[in-house]
Amino acid sequence: LKPTIFQTDEEIVQAVVQKIKALLESKKEKIVLGLPTGSTPLGVYQELVRLHKEENLDLSRLVTFNLDEYFPMDSKNPQSYTSYMFKHLFDHINIDKKNIHIPNGMIGEDVINEYCQEYEKQIEEAGGLDLVLLGIGRSGHIGFNEPGSFFDSRTRLVVLDETTRRDAAGGFFGIEKVPKLAITMGIGTILSSKEIILLATGEHKALIVKQLIEEKASRKIPATFLHSHPNTHIFLDSSSAGELS
Ligand code: F6R
Repeated sequence: LKPTIFQTDEEIVQAVVQKIKALLESKKEKIVLGLPTGSTPLGVYQELVRLHKEENLDLSRLVTFNLDEYFPMDSKNPQSYTSYMFKHLFDHINIDKKNIHIPNGMIGEDVINEYCQEYEKQIEEAGGLDLVLLGIGRSGHIGFNEPGSFFDSRTRLVVLDETTRRDAAGGFFGIEKVPKLAITMGIGTILSSKEIILLATGEHKALIVKQLIEEKASRKIPATFLHSHPNTHIFLDSSSAGELS
């Protein structure tokens, strides 16, 4: 994995948006994206909204699958990833609402396995993922595939790492209020995408970025499984690239 290091966040945003635009310029009927939440992709979502509003970028062919959602989590809760996605992207673009897929954090625990298999089936029926955007957690997770995740894991219920819950504590006004579980696409699901872009910005990501780039693929740092994907791009700013040898 050879990262691309950008001087400014704006350049990263433009590089990602160019990739999405290239897909939109293809003749494909549907463009199937895997999408993250969190602070890292906010600039990308903001730019897509701007392009739609100011330059009439047509996003009606997008089909989206979010990577993850807390469990349990009511989608109406402002802390849900559903709320996040509508607030930052879906409420402002011309995506067909029936093409939006976000794991349901209120699904009954007794039917969760079937529900997760159904999520995988929906991805398949949409034609498979064309592009997955990823952030990276300080635990080494992509989606919510925490340390210990297998490279061939699929959409499932997972236990969140302590580091992840601590990093989310601010948004929940205390770590004790952060859900302990989540539904996430698996590593295998992510690796099935034709193209993957992992974004990491800021000094707080420098250590995990070093491990991602310099360590062999292992379950200790699930993001390292990206090494086996032939069409993965790692976009960094100079801060997140600061520890690379
Ligand atoms: C969120 C997700 C996570 C985040 C990661 C980084 O949907 O899939 O893997 O991408 O935790 O979060 P930020 O961008 O807030 O640093």
